[in-house]
Amino acid sequence: MPFEFSEENRREFEKLIPRYPVKEAVMLPTLHLAQRQAGYISPEVMEYVAGLLEVPVMKVKDVLTFYPMFFEEPVGKYVIRVCHTLPCALADCKLVLEHIKQKLNTDVAAETDLAKGTTPDGKFTLLKAECLASCDVAPVMMVNDDLYKNLTPQKVDEILDSLA
Ligand code: FES
Repeated sequence: MPFEFSEENRREFEKLIPRYPVKEAVMLPTLHLAQRQAGYISPEVMEYVAGLLEVPVMKVKDVLTFYPMFFEEPVGKYVIRVCHTLPCALADCKLVLEHIKQKLNTDVAAETDLAKGTTPDGKFTLLKAECLASCDVAPVMMVNDDLYKNLTPQKVDEILDSLA
């Protein structure tokens, strides 16, 4: 199905244009807007963004491949990224990750298989992340745009229960 921005996102996009020297430079914020609206960047969304920015679709595809925050397959309403880099590993992020897996009865998604880490109700997708730049409050995770620090299984329960 063809994609196009909602009125609101179209206005947001129009506001972005004058802030950048060339249209192509608006790629990242445009993709963020598109992903927020569509849930993920499907081929139709890719084409739409390429058309808006007047660039070849391959340019959009290159950006998507480079940045892990964009998804090309459907993901859950809440995307959980548990940091597993060394400082978080030393703070027992494995315990946190295992707890989430058990609680949601899911696995960790693979880059090429997001469905593997997505709950059947489409609510959560679980991913491992590289350092989230909050090592002093490890272990940490992000749920969509929100950072959660000093995690314990108990804290995780509270967070996930509040989203369920
Ligand atoms: S290692 Fe986890 S936030 Fe830096």
